[in-house]
Amino acid sequence: MKLSHRITHLTPSGSDGWEVFYKARRMKAAGHDITELTIGEHDIRTAKPILDAMHGAALKGHTGYAMVPGTDDLRAAVAHRIATRTGVPTTPANILITPGGQSALFAAHHAVLDDGDTALFIDPYYATYPGTIRGVGGVPRAVPARPEAGFQPQAADIAAQADGAKSLLINTPNNPTGAVYSRATLDGIAATCQTHDLTLISDEVYDTQVWDGTHISPRALPDMADRTLVVGSMSKSHAMTGSRVGWVCGPEDAITHMINLATHTTYGVPGYIQDAALFALSQGTELEDQVAAPFQRRRQITETLLAAQNTVRASPTQGAMYAMLDIRGTGLSGQDFANALLDQHHIATMPGESFGTAGAGHIRVAMTIDDDRYRTALQTLLTFAATQTA
Ligand SMILES: Cc1ncc(COP(=O)(O)O)c(C=O)c1O
Repeated sequence: MKLSHRITHLTPSGSDGWEVFYKARRMKAAGHDITELTIGEHDIRTAKPILDAMHGAALKGHTGYAMVPGTDDLRAAVAHRIATRTGVPTTPANILITPGGQSALFAAHHAVLDDGDTALFIDPYYATYPGTIRGVGGVPRAVPARPEAGFQPQAADIAAQADGAKSLLINTPNNPTGAVYSRATLDGIAATCQTHDLTLISDEVYDTQVWDGTHISPRALPDMADRTLVVGSMSKSHAMTGSRVGWVCGPEDAITHMINLATHTTYGVPGYIQDAALFALSQGTELEDQVAAPFQRRRQITETLLAAQNTVRASPTQGAMYAMLDIRGTGLSGQDFANALLDQHHIATMPGESFGTAGAGHIRVAMTIDDDRYRTALQTLLTFAATQTA
């Protein structure tokens, strides 16, 4: 079949840094006992009351076409949540319900980029970012966030890449680095967006997983609400990754156009899933805290084990489900370290190189297995690192 340049060039061919992950999966399939510290998914499943709400809604007949922008009730609940958390007046007209945050990222970039427009994103980055930008005809351009700055993006680095760019995509709390952007970082980002007339796309899907500091939504900063599109999701906050429900929040006119886009792409999110999301949001922060608690515990385990050695350094693990470990002291690349750890100890991690160039010499550890196994695996990793320098 003759395929478009756009779809065949969504992701670059050749090495993409995911070889260790696929190798681990092959080893697992061949019967090896692999400890996977790779994927950003909870080790718990969606809570039963949420599933009951989903089932109940389906049985009540909410199985037909749902409202494309989202049900009135869910849009209102998301608007209320955002207004409460950020203080920015937000109405249902500012919200489009999407099939997960990924779809929201796509819609947001579609809304601001024309063919050939440049879109900035921060490196290290969540794996789909450049492909999402290419998917809407944009040209991705990376801005490094440096380990020396705790992976906080610096305004000067953004400005240096901003010439001719239309948008900037940021993510706080951050995957893969675990950084939570400070007020100073976000002020710098906001000022740069204003100076260079960039639309800010703010991926906040980890907004309930903050261990140090506070999550600040840049939409709440002065004069930013009109140039910011916020991406949110129930995936991480409510352990609903498979339900595919998220949102974009932004100015009413932008949302109106994105609703039109949704009509021509997703045609909305299933009604029984939206009802389950509404139920989950109605449980308030208690349920969110329960879902986040295991990561907070494992983050503490990480800090304790790291403090007892001096080969591996962590960038501050301030939020999200990940610890970005600086293994440059071993003299190995992230790729070589992750490969050797997998071969010798059957522990799978993600090389920092999988997330761009700024994460080189690091590995990302997903804190997504039970506490005891996590502690044992991390201790093995640290002992392994120490033997590399001996
Ligand atoms: C930073 C970031 N953004 C967006 C997503 C997409 O989440 P979902 O589409 O499940 O809402 C993920 C998933 O891992 C992520 O890590």
